[in-house]
Amino acid sequence: MDEAINIEDLRRIAKRRLPKIAYDFIEGGAEDEFGLDRNERAFQNLSIVPRYLIDVSRRDQSTALFGRTYASPVGIAPTGLAALFRPGADLMLAEAARDANVPFIMSGASTASIEDLAKVAPEHGWYQLYAAKDKKISEDMIARARDAGLSTLVLTVDVPVGSNRERNKRNGFGRPLKLSLRTKLEALTHPAWMAGFMQHGEPLFSNWAPYAPKGASNGEVANLVAQQTYAPLTWADVERFRSLWPRNFVIKGIMDPRDAQRAAELGVDGIMVSNHGARQIDKSPSPVEVFPAIRDAVGDRMTLMIDSGIRRGSDVVAALCLGAKFCFVGRATLYGAVAGGTAGAAKALTIFRNEIDMTMAQMGAPDIAALGPDFLFSDEPLRNRRP
Ligand SMILES: Cc1cc2nc3c(=O)[nH]c(=O)nc-3n(C[C@H](O)[C@H](O)[C@H](O)COP(=O)(O)O)c2cc1C
Repeated sequence: MDEAINIEDLRRIAKRRLPKIAYDFIEGGAEDEFGLDRNERAFQNLSIVPRYLIDVSRRDQSTALFGRTYASPVGIAPTGLAALFRPGADLMLAEAARDANVPFIMSGASTASIEDLAKVAPEHGWYQLYAAKDKKISEDMIARARDAGLSTLVLTVDVPVGSNRERNKRNGFGRPLKLSLRTKLEALTHPAWMAGFMQHGEPLFSNWAPYAPKGASNGEVANLVAQQTYAPLTWADVERFRSLWPRNFVIKGIMDPRDAQRAAELGVDGIMVSNHGARQIDKSPSPVEVFPAIRDAVGDRMTLMIDSGIRRGSDVVAALCLGAKFCFVGRATLYGAVAGGTAGAAKALTIFRNEIDMTMAQMGAPDIAALGPDFLFSDEPLRNRRP
């Protein structure tokens, strides 16, 4: 892991460590997976026009978000089932985020609990809610996150139904987990992962365990999650959750300016413009492509954040130039956690921090306040620029 110099290196290490069925779950998108490429390409298509003869000898990437100052403008997006990739991975990611002073969003399908998160990263942990069909479960989860003192609740809205992830189907990844002989034999060729799996078995959806019958096995809790999720979710639920949650309330998965406007009207504090890392609808545009229209529709009425396809610090800087206040990464830090636990997740965050610093220096932006749309290349504005 010491030799990894970028996120792609961490991805390669993670791929080596994991059996195909687990790696494909992380890496995969929906259907033909055009969206994966589109997300990354949208960032590649943003270019930065550097300015020179500016003193950049001191650089500061600290970023204010919801009244708190984080060390860097990139946090960890929620990723479910993390313990399947490395036992304990949820809290390893939380520790890495805490130590780097950036936010960590615990997934609604996490394999550690809200209460554990509050112990490990009380200041940096946010909770992402997957609404349950049984309204009492969602309300109880919100109360638990509130009582645990977490600052921010994130409601994910872009999973109305399970998506068509064909890699998972081919690998037999589903409920109940049916591993083909080929899958099992392949898994044996990843002994480090296999040892962890043999020791810990199928991970527990810890946050859901209290709602399963007493003594339920991990598999039975997973069945409960499968029954309760994909709950019908409407704006009425947004209003209800908003009224139940006293602190920062964020919606994750907004892609249309009209939905962004509606969220602002309902008193939502922030949105994550996201297509779930191209895991839901393959025909979705990239969040980068829809971001300018959303920014123009809601202006400063809400805090705008973005994820999906970020692999470089320069992607983060470009997103901030577009007008995003903060960025999140899903796969990048997960690769790190798979490759090297807490140290690996920390390494991913360090890579981002160093690349952001380097990009800001190269482009002539000493701090986050200096970033703006003027830096983004487009021939027309360049021609029109006056000293
Ligand atoms: C393995 C995996 C699991 C995920 N689980 C969740 C989840 O439980 N809840 C959620 O809101 N988003 C989930 N996501 C989406 C991420 O939060 C995030 O939107 C996405 O990964 C961003 O794209 P990126 O991976 O290109 O950075 C998951 C993504 C991955 C890769």
